[in-house]
Amino acid sequence: MKKVRLQPGSGGYDIIIGPGLLGQAGAMLKEIGFSGKLVIVTDSRVKKLYGDGLKLDLENGGFEVLLLEVPEGEEQKSLDTAGRLYNELTDFYAERTTPVLALGGGVIGDLAGFVAATYMRGVPLVQLPTTLLAQGDSSIGGKVAVNHGRLKNKIGAFYHPRITISDLNTLKSLSPRELSNGMAEIIKHGVILDGKFFDYIEDNLDKVIALDDEVMEEVVSRSAEIKAGVVEKDEFDLGLRNILNCGHTVGHAVESVSGLKIWHGEAVAVGMLVEAGISNRLGILNEDELKRLKEVVKRAGLPTQLPALRTETIIEAMRHDKKNVRGKIRFVLPKKIGEVLITDEVDTSLVEEVLGEWNEQA
Ligand SMILES: NC(=O)c1ccc[n+]([C@@H]2O[C@H](COP(=O)([O-])OP(=O)(O)OC[C@H]3O[C@@H](n4cnc5c(N)ncnc54)[C@H](O)[C@@H]3O)[C@@H](O)[C@H]2O)c1
Repeated sequence: MKKVRLQPGSGGYDIIIGPGLLGQAGAMLKEIGFSGKLVIVTDSRVKKLYGDGLKLDLENGGFEVLLLEVPEGEEQKSLDTAGRLYNELTDFYAERTTPVLALGGGVIGDLAGFVAATYMRGVPLVQLPTTLLAQGDSSIGGKVAVNHGRLKNKIGAFYHPRITISDLNTLKSLSPRELSNGMAEIIKHGVILDGKFFDYIEDNLDKVIALDDEVMEEVVSRSAEIKAGVVEKDEFDLGLRNILNCGHTVGHAVESVSGLKIWHGEAVAVGMLVEAGISNRLGILNEDELKRLKEVVKRAGLPTQLPALRTETIIEAMRHDKKNVRGKIRFVLPKKIGEVLITDEVDTSLVEEVLGEWNEQA
């Protein structure tokens, strides 16, 4: 079991990582002072896998538990679903001190986190992430949100949990594609800040794919630590957090124009490769490092090739990127594995060229 401490401006909390931790969740919650009622929010797939068992465990531990289920999928990150959950909390007589437990992937973390942040102006939140994407990335950093109309993740808050418990055993029921999808942001954490961590991933990728407990504990905790370090320095996303967007300028554009057929992690992975390619063409990132990155992305089961999309359409989508300043497309480019630079000075013609190259590569 590993423990990562996140110490934002207001209050600190632990992120606990290890196999079999859901069975200890009740004891951990008691240890930080919870008793009486609590509410679990989960989706239909995770409820069957882990939600019903967790409810029983917590009831046996003396809690009064309301288990709320929403259907699977991104569409549930909505004000409508949040509204339904507020009603259920009210019917349960949930109080300001009643914790909301987010049991699931990033969708549930964002949705239940948003509900916890807003119900009665905020009730305690507990994150129980069950996908690799959520354990290594989305449950860390305090961003909670729902979508609304064309606003993706834009109705939300910065709201940290009281504790995050990542049970590595839950990763065993993910499909290979879901696991690979979760690896992208973890690899990115190595690329932006920690060359040694990237080396570790490179050396242990076969064990990651086999979900070896010891390796996964290291990978998830180091990923959490790197993100926590950035969040502590820039809690409200006013500067440094920008480096977390490595791979996202191209990635977000590809994700949105692909009509969400490509998943977020997959788009970030290929986005990172294109951006590393741009960096290489600018003479910043050397050829060897570019090759290493491509190899790791490939071995992680992530795409190394852009889907068949028109280059102009991708560039047009990049023009709407939230990071842009004064109409210039902003990139977070790897300088070497473990270090990035932020620039607005990349010629669109070079972007077009490199996009074309990654399009062709089979
Ligand atoms: N808040 C942030 O900082 C942040 C960062 C990145 C992404 N996100 C958000 O995260 C979401 C994506 O998260 P995700 O990829 O975890 O998707 P998800 O929550 O939709 O989960 C993917 C699928 O896996 C299933 N699932 C979850 N845990 C499982 C398990 N242990 N075994 C089997 N199936 C399981 C779910 O039912 C779902 O069908 C997006 O909404 C994205 O916007 C948020």
